[in-house]
Amino acid sequence: MATTYDIATKQAAPKQGSPVPVIAVENLYKSFAGHKVLNGVTLRVNQGETLAVLGRSGTGKSVLLRLIIGLETPDSGSISIHGQNILGLALDRMGAIRKKMGFLFQQSALYDSLTVQENVAFPLEHHRRDMSRSERSDRVRQLLAEVGMEGDLEKMPSDISGGMQKRVGLARALALEPEILLLDEPTAGLDPISSGEIDELILKLQRERRMASVVVTHDLHSAKTIAGHLALLNEGDVVIEGTFDDLQHSDIEFVKEFLQQS
Ligand SMILES: Nc1ncnc2c1ncn2[C@@H]1O[C@H](COP(=O)(O)OP(=O)(O)O)[C@@H](O)[C@H]1O
Ligand SMILES: [Mg+2]
Repeated sequence: MATTYDIATKQAAPKQGSPVPVIAVENLYKSFAGHKVLNGVTLRVNQGETLAVLGRSGTGKSVLLRLIIGLETPDSGSISIHGQNILGLALDRMGAIRKKMGFLFQQSALYDSLTVQENVAFPLEHHRRDMSRSERSDRVRQLLAEVGMEGDLEKMPSDISGGMQKRVGLARALALEPEILLLDEPTAGLDPISSGEIDELILKLQRERRMASVVVTHDLHSAKTIAGHLALLNEGDVVIEGTFDDLQHSDIEFVKEFLQQS
């Protein structure tokens, strides 16, 4: 079948029946002061899918997420959200797209001086001025209940465990009803039981909300639990992408080593 071509986006139109991916990263390159970090990364995530990006420390996983959010600019390649290339977009257009994205950074990055409920209210106060105070406060309670933190509204981040901080971070990431969820090492630094609970929570949220999610992790067990697809990065490139089963059956030496050591 001949490939059709979309004149407006200058991209090959998707084959009939295959949806436009929510996130499409094509041939992405990024260096910092001559240090090559990403060397031609290509990835796609459809609605309702969770992609786990795996790799050792320093392979560019966090940089990849920061590029998707638009906090950094690639040297070349493209990043499309719902088929629209976000590179070079005006700030207001990018702002509108970023509102569709919920993200949880590696260090949960809660505001230390705000309570749990104030942390979750923060995005609503900035972006949902159309809601009344009481609507916003109801919404905050609802979000915190969704992550099992409804009993800790008035606590400070320093008074709750690392796992609870991740839960609050997740509630905050969901505040604006994102279509895209980007999580950077959501289980890093947690004990195995808390990690398992966060994995279960991510699975539950994903079942209920059907977002397109990218979860960056070096934790193979977590990746296998929450993601249908896994992409293994090494030296800024995707070594293999597929199901956990595909990874297990791979003959690629790096994949075998990574699985053995994880
Ligand atoms: N803003 C930056 N300036 C310079 N180097 C950076 C910057 N961000 C990341 N790097 C480098 O890019 C590489 C990949 O980093 P990162 O994406 O954080 O790795 P990880 O896979 O552990 O998340 C590292 O060598 C890091 O030092
Ligand atoms: Mg990282």
